[in-house]
Order: sequence, then C-alpha cells, then structure tokens
Amino acid sequence: MAMSLILRRVARRAAGLAPRAGAVAPSLAPGAAGAPIRWHGGAGTFDAGAEDVRVVFVAGDGTETEVVAKAGQDLLDIAHRNDIDMEGACEGSIACSTCHVILDDDVFDQLEEATEEEDDMLDMAPGLTDTSRLGCQVVVTSDLDGIRVQLPKQTRNFYVDGHKPTPH
Ligand code: FES
Repeated sequence: MAMSLILRRVARRAAGLAPRAGAVAPSLAPGAAGAPIRWHGGAGTFDAGAEDVRVVFVAGDGTETEVVAKAGQDLLDIAHRNDIDMEGACEGSIACSTCHVILDDDVFDQLEEATEEEDDMLDMAPGLTDTSRLGCQVVVTSDLDGIRVQLPKQTRNFYVDGHKPTPH
C-alpha cells in the first residue's frame, strides 16, 4: 500500500518534468533567487505589505480554521503564527516529516515539484498520499487564495513533551 503511493508520487513527478500550467513561479520556491530569506532553520520571513492569502487548515478531526496569511509565507510559518497544530520539529530544514500536509489535487498541481530531498522525507510520513507535501516547503501566493490544507490524522512527533517550535 505505502509502496504504491510512493510509486504513484514518483510517476506523477516524472510526468511533471515539463512545467505545469499555472505552476507557481520558480522564484517563489524557498531557497531560489528572489525567494524570501529564511532565518535559522525555520519559518520564512515575509513582506508585511504582501497580498493577503486565505488559508483553511482542516484538522484531523475535520475542524476547519481559516486564517489570513501573506503571500511569501510557507504553510509551517502560517500554522505556527496562528496556533494551528503542526509540529515542524526541524523548523523547515527538511529533516523531519512532522509538517506533512495533504493538498487538493488542483492546488498540488499548481506548486513547484517537490525536491528529491522533500520526497525522501515525505516517504516517512504516516498517511502519505499522492498530494502530500511538507508544509515548510509550500510557499503561498495570491493564486492560492482560499486553499484548504488537510492536516494528517497522525504525524511522527519528535517531541515527547508535546512541545511545538514557534517562529523566532
Ligand atoms: S518542519 Fe521538518 S521537514 Fe518541514
């Protein structure tokens, strides 16, 4: 079962080598030239004057929380700033899978491809789907206004005391 999901993700990735219609500009990818500067292993900086982007987080129990973020923020940063239950143990260093999120097909298809590093981490995420991403690697743009972000029912928690890192 898990293997077939991984294979589907690989096939989807291979099929997506050509830019997809409506793909987010590469310059917005974390680490790309012109991308927001990131601080110590974690939540990205953002322009307070950037466009508002509404994001609806859907918890494992179905509870929905709509927040207003700024274009240029990543989903982990948005979650932490709005008390959404997303761990993010490595603070965006692609060294855990505790920021795992599940996106709608159309949203997934608008994003830049996940890097091999991200896919490797995702393979360890419980509840992996073929539209899974690491929240710390998804930067929102105005094109994504109103997106729904499903949080998995379970994650592999790195902190035994329930601690959740916060932006600093
Ligand atoms: S916070 Fe660890 S990979 Fe995203």
